[in-house]
Amino acid sequence: MGGEMHFSSLSYLLLLLISFPLFSHAQVDTPKPPPSPSSYTPPDNYLIDCGSSGKTVLDDGRTFKSDSDTSNFLKTNEDIVTSVDQNILSDTVSNSSSPLFRSARIFSEVSLYTFITKPGRHWVRLYFFPLPHQLYNLTVAIFTVQTEKFVLLHEFSVRDNSKGVFKEYLVNTTGRFSLQFKPKKGSCAFVNAIEVVSAPDQLISDSASSVPQWRTINGISNYALQVSLRLNVGGPVLSPKNDTLSRTWLPDTPFNAFPEGAKTVMGSKPIIYPDGGATPLIAPNSVYSTAEVMADSETTNPNFNLTWEVNVEQSFSYFIRMHFCDIVSQSPNDLYFNVYINGMMGVSGLDLTTKTGGRLNAAYYTDLVLNATAVTNGSIKIQVGPTVDSNLHKAILNGLEVIKMSNEADSLDGLFAVDGSYKGPGRIKMKIVAGVGLAMGAVALLGLAIVFVRWKKRPKDWKKKQSFSSWLLPLHACQSTRGGFLSSKSSSRRSSIFSSRKSKSTHSSFFTGLGRFFTVTELERATQNFDEKTVIGVGGFGKVYIGALEDGTKVAIKRGSNGSEQGINEFQTEIQMLSKLRHRHLVSLVGFCDQQQEMILVYEYMANGPLRDHIYGSNKPTLSWKQRLEICIGAARGLHYLHTGTSQGIIHRDVKTTNILLDENFVAKVSDFGLSKDAPMDQGYVSTAVKGSFGYLDPEYFRRQQLTEKSDVYSFGVVLFEVLCARPVICPKLPKEQVSLADWAMHWQRKGMIEKIIDPAIARAVSSESLRKYVEAAEKCLAEHGVDRPGMGDVLWNLEYALQLQEAATQIHLPEDKSANLIAFKKPGEQRSEDSHVSGATDDSEVTVGSPVFHQMGNFQGR
Ligand SMILES: *[C@@H]1O[C@H](CO)[C@@H](O)[C@H](O)[C@H]1NC(C)=O
Ligand SMILES: *[C@@H]1O[C@H](CO)[C@@H](O)[C@H](O)[C@H]1NC(C)=O
Ligand SMILES: *[C@@H]1O[C@H](CO)[C@@H](O)[C@H](O)[C@H]1NC(C)=O
Ligand SMILES: *[C@@H]1O[C@H](CO)[C@@H](O)[C@H](O)[C@H]1NC(C)=O
Ligand SMILES: *[C@@H]1O[C@H](CO)[C@@H](O)[C@H](O)[C@H]1NC(C)=O
Ligand SMILES: *[C@@H]1O[C@H](CO)[C@@H](O)[C@H](O)[C@H]1NC(C)=O
Ligand SMILES: *[C@@H]1O[C@H](CO)[C@@H](O)[C@H](O)[C@H]1NC(C)=O
Repeated sequence: MGGEMHFSSLSYLLLLLISFPLFSHAQVDTPKPPPSPSSYTPPDNYLIDCGSSGKTVLDDGRTFKSDSDTSNFLKTNEDIVTSVDQNILSDTVSNSSSPLFRSARIFSEVSLYTFITKPGRHWVRLYFFPLPHQLYNLTVAIFTVQTEKFVLLHEFSVRDNSKGVFKEYLVNTTGRFSLQFKPKKGSCAFVNAIEVVSAPDQLISDSASSVPQWRTINGISNYALQVSLRLNVGGPVLSPKNDTLSRTWLPDTPFNAFPEGAKTVMGSKPIIYPDGGATPLIAPNSVYSTAEVMADSETTNPNFNLTWEVNVEQSFSYFIRMHFCDIVSQSPNDLYFNVYINGMMGVSGLDLTTKTGGRLNAAYYTDLVLNATAVTNGSIKIQVGPTVDSNLHKAILNGLEVIKMSNEADSLDGLFAVDGSYKGPGRIKMKIVAGVGLAMGAVALLGLAIVFVRWKKRPKDWKKKQSFSSWLLPLHACQSTRGGFLSSKSSSRRSSIFSSRKSKSTHSSFFTGLGRFFTVTELERATQNFDEKTVIGVGGFGKVYIGALEDGTKVAIKRGSNGSEQGINEFQTEIQMLSKLRHRHLVSLVGFCDQQQEMILVYEYMANGPLRDHIYGSNKPTLSWKQRLEICIGAARGLHYLHTGTSQGIIHRDVKTTNILLDENFVAKVSDFGLSKDAPMDQGYVSTAVKGSFGYLDPEYFRRQQLTEKSDVYSFGVVLFEVLCARPVICPKLPKEQVSLADWAMHWQRKGMIEKIIDPAIARAVSSESLRKYVEAAEKCLAEHGVDRPGMGDVLWNLEYALQLQEAATQIHLPEDKSANLIAFKKPGEQRSEDSHVSGATDDSEVTVGSPVFHQMGNFQGR
C-alpha cells in the first residue's frame, strides 16, 4: 500500500471521483520492476467527454466521464454546452469517427481545467469538432490552449466541419496540471474531449542523438512534445485498443516516397523484448512484427534508400523515434545499414545484431533529434539504406514516430509564450547583429547628446504644445532641409501658403523637410471638428477625413486613433519616408500635426480614391484595359523609384490595391509608407518581423523573415492579377483552391488558360498579345524565390510593352473607331464621383493574427 502515501487527501478524493481503475492496479513500488512490462495502468487517468450528459465508453474499453461528473475540475463563469443527438446524427458528425465528438463545451471567456497529478510525463489528448450551436459558430472560433508553462495551440481554429481534429501531447507535469482555454477577443473556445493520462517514465528518456550524428542531446524532459505522426511501417492501422498506451499508429503508405523499392514483410515468430531495451510500452508487438524492407532488385541498381517523407511545421525541432526488428533474416549479422534524416547521417552502420544481443526478432528503437535549423523544406525525409562499402543491400524499418519539440517560446504552435510575449526570430537576429548594434548604440548616444543640448535650449513654451516630435523627429529633419514637399501642379500656390504659415510657426526651421506643421485648431476648422460626415476612409492607423484648407485646397487628413507604440512608430516612419521622397507616382505629404498628443498626417487629396474601388466591390464605372495598364504602369513607376531612386532604396512592404490611389486624372500614386523600410546596404536583406497584408505577402519573406525589395515585386504581381481578374486576393467563401487569387491565377496560367478567369468586363477588349505579355510579367513576379523575380524596372518595361501591344491591336481592329475609342479611354475625368477616397481607406484585406484561414501562420504580426 506504499503507493497511497503519495497522494494528498484531496487528490485521493479527486482520483476516487475520476479514475475508476484506482488503486487496485496502481503501480506499487516493488524492489525490482519486471524487465518488460507489457501492460500499464496509468496512475493519473482523467478522461472527460466535455458537454456530455452521460459517460461515454469507447470501443477500447476506456470510459470518459460526463461533463457534470467532472465539473469540479473546471473553473469557468459560464455553462454552455452543445451536443448532437445520437439518433439524428448528420453524416458529417457520425463520420467524424469518435463518439467523443458528439458533444462539446464552449467557453466565451478564459476557462481553466485543473488536475492533481503525479509528477512525470502525461499524455494530453484533445478532441475538437465544431458542432452546431444556436449562439456560437464554432467553425470561426479562434482560441489558445496552454498549460502553466507551455502553449499547446495558439489562435487555433477548426474550420473544416467534415472531420474531427485530434491533438496529442506529452507534457511533464509537477503535482498540479492546468489546461487553460483562452478565446481570442470577440471569439470563443471549445473542446469536445480531454485526456490527461500518465505516461510511463521509461517512454521518453532524457537524451537522444543529434542529427547529424555527432553528439548526445540531453534535457529532453524540459521540452513539451507533440506527436506529429506515428506510423506502423508495413502494417495496418492500430487503434487505441490495439496499443499498450492507447496510441494510434497509421500505415506508412501515404508517406512512402519510394514505394517501388519497398517490400512489405510480416514476421511469424513472436517478438522478443530484450532486457533494458524496448518494451511493449515503447511499441506493441504489432508494430515490430511488420516492416518495409528493400525489395529484391537483382536487375536494376541494388543500391538505393528506402525513403519516407513527412510534412512538418518549420522552425521547430523534432524528436524522431525509429523502431527496428529483424523479422526477415535467417541468421544474425545480415542487417547492417545507415539511417539518414534530411540527407544527413542519423545512424551510421546500424547493426541490429549487436544492438539486440545477437538475437533475431528482437525489438530495438533509436531516438534522434533533428534541430529546427535543419528543417528547411517544411518536410522531414527519413531514409534507410545500405552503407557504401557493404554488399548486403538490405535495410528495414518497422515503426516511425515524428514528435515536435517545444521551441524557445515554450510553445508548440507559434512564437508566443504563455504570457503572450513574442519570442520570434527578431530577437535571435539581434544577437547576431550585436556588432552592428554596438555601432548603432554609439550613434544613439550621440543622438542623446544632441537631444540633451536641445533640451537645454528648449523654447519656454514647449510644455504647452505637448509635442513629442520636436524632440524626436528633428534629429532627422535637420539634415534634410529640402523644402519641396509638394506634388506637381499646385506647388507654387501651396508653397506660398506654407511660407507665410511658416513665419508664424515656432516649429518652422525644424520641419522644412517634413512638410508643413499644422495646429489642431487649423485641422479642426478644415474638417468641421473632425465631423463624422467628413470621414472618407478607415484604416489600421485610424480615420481619414477630407478637409479644405483656408485657401480651399482639398486635403486628406489621416488621424491616428491613439498613441500606441506601433502607431507612433508608423507615424514617424511615414513622415520620415515621405520627407525623403518626391515623385509623381507617390502620394505627397502636405504636412502633419503632433500637438496635444495627436498624430495627424495631411496628404494631397486623391479624388478618385483607392484603385480597388474601381476594380470590384463598388459600383463605379469599370476601367478599360488600357486605363488599367496605365494605372499599373504608374504604380510600377512609383515602386521602381522607391527601390532605386533614393540613395539607399526603400522597401514599401504593403503593396496592395488599397494603397494605390488615383487622382482626379486617374494618375496612380503609391501611398501608405507606415511599414516601409530602408533597403539593406550590404547583406542583401533586412531581417524583420513579418508585416504586410495577407494575400499579398511574399511567401519567401514569410518563411525566412528576410525582407528584400523582391517582396514588393511579389505583392505587385498579386496586384496585377487582381486588376486582371477583378476579385479579392483572398476570398474565404470560395472553394479551397480558389481562396487565394495568387494560387488560382497561377493554376490557370500554368494551364495556359488564364483568359478563363479574367474580368468579363474587359475580356473582349483585351488583345491576346497584350494579355500574354502582362500575365507573363505578373507570373514572373510571383516566382517562388525572390532571386527569380524580376526587378520593378523589368516589370515596368513589360507593362509598357503590353500597353503598346494593346494600342497596336486597337488600331488594327478598330480603324474607324479609333478616335472614338481614344476619347472613351479619356472619359474618367468626367466620371469623377462624389464619394472619393484617400490614403488608408478601408482595408478589408488586412487579416489579423490567427484568422481562421491562417491560424497555422503563428508568427505573423497582423497590423
Ligand atoms: C460515412 O460513413 C458511412 C458508413 O460508416 C459510409 O458509407 C459513408 O460513405 C461515409 N460518408 C462519408 C462522407 O465519408
Ligand atoms: C459559420 O461561419 C462560417 C464561415 O463564416 C460560415 O460558412 C457558416 O455558414 C457559419 N455557420 C453558421 C451555422 O452560421
Ligand atoms: C520531469 O521534469 C523534472 C524536472 O524538470 C525531471 O526531474 C523529471 O525527470 C521529468 N520527468 C520525466 C518523466 O521526464
Ligand atoms: C486490433 O484489435 C482488435 C480487437 O481486439 C483485433 O480484432 C484486431 O485484429 C487488432 N488488430 C491488429 C492489427 O492487431
Ligand atoms: C541514401 O541517401 C543519402 C542521403 O540522402 C545519400 O547520401 C546516399 O547516397 C543514398 N544512398 C544510396 C545508395 O542512394
Ligand atoms: C537547435 O540549435 C540551436 C542552435 O544551435 C540550439 O540553441 C537549440 O537548443 C537546438 N535545439 C534542440 C532541440 O536541440
Ligand atoms: C523540398 O521538397 C520538394 C518537394 O517536397 C522536393 O522536390 C525537394 O527536393 C526538396 N528539397 C530539399 C533540399 O530537400
